[in-house]
Amino acid sequence: MTTILVLNGPNLGRLGTREPEVYGSETLADIEASLRVGLPEGVELELRQTDDEGELIRWIHEAVDRATPVVLNPAAFTHYSYGLRDAAALLKQAGVPLIEVHLSNPHARERFRHTSVISAVATGVIAGFGSDSYRLAVQQLLRIV
Ligand code: DQA
Repeated sequence: MTTILVLNGPNLGRLGTREPEVYGSETLADIEASLRVGLPEGVELELRQTDDEGELIRWIHEAVDRATPVVLNPAAFTHYSYGLRDAAALLKQAGVPLIEVHLSNPHARERFRHTSVISAVATGVIAGFGSDSYRLAVQQLLRIV
Protein backbone atom coordinates (compact mmCIF):
# COMPACT_ATOMS: atom_id res chain seq x y z
CA MET A 1 0.00 0.00 0.00
CA THR A 2 1.39 3.39 -1.04
CA THR A 3 0.10 6.41 0.83
CA ILE A 4 0.36 9.95 -0.49
CA LEU A 5 -0.08 12.82 1.94
CA VAL A 6 -1.68 15.93 0.43
CA LEU A 7 -0.98 18.71 2.90
CA ASN A 8 -2.49 22.17 2.77
CA GLY A 9 -1.55 25.31 4.63
CA PRO A 10 -3.46 28.34 5.89
CA ASN A 11 -6.69 29.61 4.40
CA LEU A 12 -6.97 26.73 1.94
CA GLY A 13 -9.89 25.44 4.02
CA ARG A 14 -11.72 28.47 2.60
CA LEU A 15 -11.36 27.41 -1.03
CA GLY A 16 -14.63 27.73 -2.89
CA THR A 17 -15.41 31.15 -1.47
CA ARG A 18 -11.89 32.60 -1.06
CA GLU A 19 -11.00 34.82 -4.04
CA PRO A 20 -12.61 32.46 -6.59
CA GLU A 21 -11.22 34.60 -9.43
CA VAL A 22 -7.73 33.59 -8.25
CA TYR A 23 -8.24 30.12 -6.74
CA GLY A 24 -11.32 28.83 -8.58
CA SER A 25 -14.64 27.73 -7.14
CA GLU A 26 -13.77 24.19 -6.06
CA THR A 27 -13.55 23.46 -2.36
CA LEU A 28 -10.76 21.38 -0.89
CA ALA A 29 -13.29 18.55 -0.54
CA ASP A 30 -14.01 18.82 -4.29
CA ILE A 31 -10.29 18.65 -5.02
CA GLU A 32 -9.92 15.65 -2.73
CA ALA A 33 -12.81 13.86 -4.47
CA SER A 34 -11.33 14.45 -7.91
CA LEU A 35 -7.89 13.29 -6.76
CA ARG A 36 -9.44 10.00 -5.64
CA VAL A 37 -10.93 9.32 -9.09
CA GLY A 38 -8.83 6.83 -10.98
CA LEU A 39 -6.29 6.26 -8.21
CA PRO A 40 -4.54 2.99 -8.93
CA GLU A 41 -5.26 0.00 -6.71
CA GLY A 42 -3.09 -0.01 -3.60
CA VAL A 43 -2.68 3.78 -3.49
CA GLU A 44 -4.17 5.62 -0.54
CA LEU A 45 -4.54 9.38 -0.38
CA GLU A 46 -4.71 11.40 2.85
CA LEU A 47 -5.64 15.05 2.44
CA ARG A 48 -5.26 17.42 5.38
CA GLN A 49 -5.47 21.18 5.91
CA THR A 50 -4.32 23.36 8.77
CA ASP A 51 -3.95 27.04 9.53
CA ASP A 52 -1.29 26.15 12.11
CA GLU A 53 2.40 26.21 11.15
CA GLY A 54 3.44 23.85 13.97
CA GLU A 55 0.82 21.29 12.96
CA LEU A 56 1.96 21.38 9.34
CA ILE A 57 5.58 20.89 10.47
CA ARG A 58 4.55 17.92 12.62
CA TRP A 59 2.76 16.36 9.63
CA ILE A 60 5.96 16.70 7.60
CA HIS A 61 7.86 14.98 10.45
CA GLU A 62 5.29 12.20 10.32
CA ALA A 63 5.88 11.87 6.55
CA VAL A 64 9.63 11.61 7.22
CA ASP A 65 9.08 8.88 9.82
CA ARG A 66 6.62 6.96 7.61
CA ALA A 67 8.61 7.63 4.41
CA THR A 68 5.38 8.93 2.86
CA PRO A 69 5.58 11.06 -0.31
CA VAL A 70 4.00 14.49 0.03
CA VAL A 71 2.10 16.94 -2.13
CA LEU A 72 2.34 20.24 -0.25
CA ASN A 73 0.51 23.49 -0.84
CA PRO A 74 2.20 25.58 1.84
CA ALA A 75 -0.05 28.57 0.97
CA ALA A 76 1.27 31.77 2.61
CA PHE A 77 3.89 29.77 4.57
CA THR A 78 5.58 29.26 1.18
CA HIS A 79 6.94 32.75 1.33
CA TYR A 80 8.43 32.98 4.82
CA SER A 81 8.30 29.82 6.94
CA TYR A 82 11.88 28.73 7.57
CA GLY A 83 10.51 26.20 10.06
CA LEU A 84 8.48 24.53 7.33
CA ARG A 85 11.43 24.69 4.95
CA ASP A 86 13.68 22.97 7.50
CA ALA A 87 11.05 20.25 7.93
CA ALA A 88 10.84 19.82 4.14
CA ALA A 89 14.64 19.54 4.07
CA LEU A 90 14.31 16.50 6.38
CA LEU A 91 12.19 14.83 3.69
CA LYS A 92 14.83 15.61 1.09
CA GLN A 93 17.53 14.21 3.39
CA ALA A 94 15.47 11.03 3.83
CA GLY A 95 15.03 10.70 0.05
CA VAL A 96 11.25 11.06 0.31
CA PRO A 97 9.73 13.11 -2.54
CA LEU A 98 7.85 16.33 -1.89
CA ILE A 99 6.07 18.23 -4.65
CA GLU A 100 5.21 21.86 -3.91
CA VAL A 101 1.95 22.91 -5.54
CA HIS A 102 0.06 26.14 -6.00
CA LEU A 103 -3.33 26.73 -7.54
CA SER A 104 -2.29 30.15 -8.80
CA ASN A 105 1.03 31.13 -10.34
CA PRO A 106 2.67 33.10 -7.51
CA HIS A 107 5.26 34.52 -9.93
CA ALA A 108 2.52 36.35 -11.81
CA ARG A 109 1.21 37.97 -8.61
CA GLU A 110 2.47 40.34 -5.90
CA ARG A 111 6.22 40.54 -5.40
CA PHE A 112 6.13 38.95 -1.92
CA ARG A 113 4.76 35.80 -3.54
CA HIS A 114 7.73 35.50 -5.91
CA THR A 115 9.88 33.98 -3.17
CA SER A 116 9.40 30.40 -2.06
CA VAL A 117 11.55 29.22 0.83
CA ILE A 118 10.33 25.68 0.12
CA SER A 119 11.20 25.22 -3.58
CA ALA A 120 14.94 24.64 -3.07
CA VAL A 121 14.25 21.56 -0.97
CA ALA A 122 11.26 20.30 -3.01
CA THR A 123 11.59 17.54 -5.57
CA GLY A 124 9.60 19.71 -7.98
CA VAL A 125 7.12 22.57 -8.15
CA ILE A 126 3.80 22.76 -10.02
CA ALA A 127 1.96 26.10 -10.04
CA GLY A 128 -0.69 27.94 -11.96
CA PHE A 129 -2.98 25.15 -13.11
CA GLY A 130 -5.74 25.48 -10.52
CA SER A 131 -6.76 22.16 -9.01
CA ASP A 132 -4.94 20.42 -11.89
CA SER A 133 -1.71 21.39 -10.09
CA TYR A 134 -2.66 18.80 -7.44
CA ARG A 135 -3.60 16.16 -10.02
CA LEU A 136 -0.34 16.66 -11.92
CA ALA A 137 1.62 16.37 -8.66
CA VAL A 138 -0.11 13.12 -7.65
CA GLN A 139 0.45 11.69 -11.15
CA GLN A 140 4.12 12.57 -11.00
CA LEU A 141 4.53 11.10 -7.51
CA LEU A 142 2.99 7.86 -8.76
CA ARG A 143 5.61 7.77 -11.52
CA ILE A 144 8.56 8.25 -9.18
CA VAL A 145 7.69 6.30 -6.04
C1 DQA B 1 -1.17 29.63 -2.97
C2 DQA B 1 -0.38 30.89 -3.31
C3 DQA B 1 0.06 31.61 -2.05
O1 DQA B 1 0.77 32.80 -2.39
C4 DQA B 1 -1.12 32.00 -1.21
O2 DQA B 1 -0.70 32.58 0.01
C5 DQA B 1 -2.08 30.89 -0.96
C6 DQA B 1 -2.33 29.93 -2.04
C7 DQA B 1 -1.77 28.96 -4.23
O3 DQA B 1 -2.17 27.80 -4.11
O4 DQA B 1 -1.85 29.58 -5.28
O5 DQA B 1 -2.70 30.80 0.09
O6 DQA B 1 -0.29 28.71 -2.35
